Amino acid sequence: MPAIVVVGAQWGDEGKGKVVDILTEFADVVVRFQGGDNAGHTVIVGDEKIVLHLIPSGVLRRDTRCVLAQGMVVRPEAVVAEIDALARRGYPIDPARLAISARAHVVLPLHLAADEAEEKRRGARGIGTTRRGIGPCYEDKSARRGVRFGDLGDPARLRELVLDATAYRRPLLEAQDVPVPDPARTCDDLRAAWERLGPHVADTGRLVAEEVRRGRHVLFEGAQGTLLDIDHGTYPFVTSSTTTAAGACAGSGVAPSAIDGVLGVCKAYTTRVGNGPFPTEADPPLAEKIRQAGAEFGATTGRPRRCGWFDAAAVRYAVRVNGITSLALTKLDVLSVLGPEIKVCTGYEVDGAVEPEIPLDRLDRARPVYETVKGVPDDLRDVRSPDDLPPAAGRYLSALEKFVGVPVALLSVGPRRAETLVFDNPFRTRKH
Ligand code: IMP
Repeated sequence: MPAIVVVGAQWGDEGKGKVVDILTEFADVVVRFQGGDNAGHTVIVGDEKIVLHLIPSGVLRRDTRCVLAQGMVVRPEAVVAEIDALARRGYPIDPARLAISARAHVVLPLHLAADEAEEKRRGARGIGTTRRGIGPCYEDKSARRGVRFGDLGDPARLRELVLDATAYRRPLLEAQDVPVPDPARTCDDLRAAWERLGPHVADTGRLVAEEVRRGRHVLFEGAQGTLLDIDHGTYPFVTSSTTTAAGACAGSGVAPSAIDGVLGVCKAYTTRVGNGPFPTEADPPLAEKIRQAGAEFGATTGRPRRCGWFDAAAVRYAVRVNGITSLALTKLDVLSVLGPEIKVCTGYEVDGAVEPEIPLDRLDRARPVYETVKGVPDDLRDVRSPDDLPPAAGRYLSALEKFVGVPVALLSVGPRRAETLVFDNPFRTRKH
């Protein structure tokens, strides 16, 4: 099975970074295909805590090639900062290790300003974005006024594009009293970034297709989660990219027929950051208990995450829209704080009937239906093999598999690499 997509099956923050880190032991290439530095994951290696926003966590395995593909929106200074931070910790990144698509769009200071202005304009109806300029950058891409990495090496063209984008945004920023970034300064900074990143810029579509053709193990790392997908999420409270598995093809140039499996990552409970519907959100004292036990604070913004019960109807929906073949279940250890009984949402009552999937178009009149199941009170941190799993944990896993309809292939019981149980490795064989 050489090409596997890993996607978030909830609202992001499912622990994809850790799952990707575990699987990259078996992957030759790790590809990010959408989003930008709105994502963020903390990976713990030995005693080191490393937070990455753009570069896949695969970079921590020295012989893995990382790709930022054309579906991404990338802030050049942020990549440079990550390359420098990794080098300081003993992970030098040369162009053979990290390729950036010439067609990936560049997040400009203008986009950060526009993100702020738009949230200000919306006021109480704000999306609660990460303010990383993601929406405005994708907006410029769709409006065909974006700047791409391949443009950075041509100073005259870059200047023309930045001036045009600034002319378009100026009245919108001024209307919200948000300062307009100086285009000359932007161009200078981008040229400096190009000096560092130019050697990494490549035709990644071809590069990834070639790796797949050679039968190498390629892992497509999704960011955010299914319910934040621009088409399949809780619109308008979503991000601006295709976070679902199909995005791996659109965003990297690999054909759907090349994908061999889709691993959906979900937590044993649910969290969400930012505004928008969250039907299984717990009341404040319980949410706080989960937040503290699960350290549920955003890796990018530090915001406290909203917390609630596992929504099997939402994950079942994610299984359908992504074609998920197996699940990675994370943070099972956190359930120990929730006592002897826990709730799982197994469907939604809407218009007098119970629906098995989250009814996104009728959420305003839908009510989650819960089943109470036995909790997992045991301390799972020291469990290292499936045979050591306490019966309560085994029962919970079986119940979730039944509710959701796909098997759990990987189970995480703590933040460290060792605190992971792999029942079924989607790559099956080791990397080349
Ligand atoms: P944006 O992607 O910054 O435009 O934010 C849009 C919505 O997606 C907001 O609700 C954010 O909190 C959410 N979001 C963006 N990136 C992530 C992520 O990596 N994890 C969880 N939520 C995210």
